[in-house]
Amino acid sequence: MTVPTQQPTRPENEPGTEVTSAAPAESREVDIHDPRLTRFDLVREGARRDGVEIMLYEPRFEPGSRAERRVVRVIAMLFLLAGAAATAFMVAYIAWPWQYEAGADALSKFYTPVLGVTLAIALFCVGAGIVAWTKKLLPHEVSIEQRHDGPSESDDQTLMGATLGGALEESGLTRRPLLKGALALGLAPFAVVAAAPIVGGLIRDPHDSPHGLPLSPQDYTGFTPLLNNDQPVRLVREDGTPIRPADVSVAGQLTVFPGVPGGATNEFADSPTLLIHLREEDAELLRDNLYEMNDGSMVGNFVAYSKICTHAGCPPSLFEQQTNLLLCPCHQSQFLITDNARPVFGPAARSLPMLPLALDAEGYFVAASDYKVPVGPSFWEL
Ligand code: FES
Repeated sequence: MTVPTQQPTRPENEPGTEVTSAAPAESREVDIHDPRLTRFDLVREGARRDGVEIMLYEPRFEPGSRAERRVVRVIAMLFLLAGAAATAFMVAYIAWPWQYEAGADALSKFYTPVLGVTLAIALFCVGAGIVAWTKKLLPHEVSIEQRHDGPSESDDQTLMGATLGGALEESGLTRRPLLKGALALGLAPFAVVAAAPIVGGLIRDPHDSPHGLPLSPQDYTGFTPLLNNDQPVRLVREDGTPIRPADVSVAGQLTVFPGVPGGATNEFADSPTLLIHLREEDAELLRDNLYEMNDGSMVGNFVAYSKICTHAGCPPSLFEQQTNLLLCPCHQSQFLITDNARPVFGPAARSLPMLPLALDAEGYFVAASDYKVPVGPSFWEL
């Protein structure tokens, strides 16, 4: 094996001094308690006793040189940038509007990209800073190691301590306060970022109502009278127009939304409802089958069911007039609308909730109350 034959040079933290070492160059053991030994002597002796021969050891730069200062500044800048990006991540995580807002100017749609970009910049800068440090600042060293087995002697432990101390000194942390400060400022916010997913849930309550109601968003839909000064909420089309019984033909159906601001948007994504005009005989059948909690929920031959599948949340709106079945296109669940929208086929295990209907003074459909049971997949509540 060919190896470089250059003798080890002094560590860079002792520039300009003559190398006076009590350690012999050859490989006989030295007294490690000899006060004349330098730290590097101990490092080299420790390495030698471990079967590692340091063949080449030279600093990258003249200590204190312009080139070294330039590299230190670049690395410090990377760490500070990482800290700034991590801080920006935290600020966005806490303060950026994250709940859905309609409209082209809504800031909420940038929430995830802002988190992703700031975290990516922080990670990249920390990685680049560490790589630049090891590549550009740590001394260049070539060593050959002889492998051996066995536990460490106490002398070896002393030498290992000296080796680790030497490594710390070589890293330049102790004599480069700019890097030390940049590292602290850069990594402190980074540590906070790592803790953000854990403590984030304690900062914001995901059950806070975005409408200022004393309820969790899972506990109401857009049909709650609480959103309408305790007055029943009208059923409206997507364009916000109210609906009279004469607007839906017999055996026809219409998708309706709560007549509150934003009622037809994702702000009330759990509120879409199917208003169905049953044939006389089918309405009779349903009246006979009504669950107790659904008593009084029909208006004439009209019934309204949640349009959110109780299996996984798809819209079960394929209405088979002849069989009175409502089909969900996702996993083929079928709901029998003449029997409280009970699932008769497929993976759904729960009936579609029925919306209590009424007519207001002007003859328009309103929700007599909110849904009496939670809409959507059961696991939403878990
Ligand atoms: S979501 Fe409707 S059957 Fe699966």
